[in-house]
Amino acid sequence: MTYTLEGFIDDCRAALKENAGPAGREKVRQLLERLLANAAFVDTAVGPQAPIGTRKLYEDTEMGFVVLAHCNPRPHRSPPHDHGSSWAVYGQAVKHTDMTEWRRTDGGTAAGAADLEIVRSYRLEPGKAGVYDVGAIHSIDYPDGSRFVRVTGRDLDYVQRLKFDTAARKAVVIESATAGAG
Ligand SMILES: [Fe+2]
Repeated sequence: MTYTLEGFIDDCRAALKENAGPAGREKVRQLLERLLANAAFVDTAVGPQAPIGTRKLYEDTEMGFVVLAHCNPRPHRSPPHDHGSSWAVYGQAVKHTDMTEWRRTDGGTAAGAADLEIVRSYRLEPGKAGVYDVGAIHSIDYPDGSRFVRVTGRDLDYVQRLKFDTAARKAVVIESATAGAG
């Protein structure tokens, strides 16, 4: 049976209710990979006819999670950033995204002086999803035509987040989460 967006949403609700911690988010990652195997969903959400930009496919008013389609208009390399008090699951649909996971080594959690080191780097290929938990820091780098589906624990427009300037060795608050696809 085809795994639809509606089925995915129901399963995410159940998974996040059953486990409010990392295990629930890992389940969302697995479910997103299953959803991305549905070619009709991918075509509708992020296919050639889908509108360019970021659009909300679903927001759960009870649990707070959001499903977003990212039809990126151009190649982009983000700075390292977190998702504040939220988590994020990225599911690659078209082309790829190079992911780098970082760790803060200065012991801080707030804006200001900050040092980072790379934990690991890998490429998300179509059909694959990665989970970035609360407080995790990552950067993304994708080519022209890369498209992905992202699930966040909360609407990031209302979450205070940090981005990192590794050259200047500092963390700054992201003023508007809608400015990028990070
Ligand atoms: Fe991100």
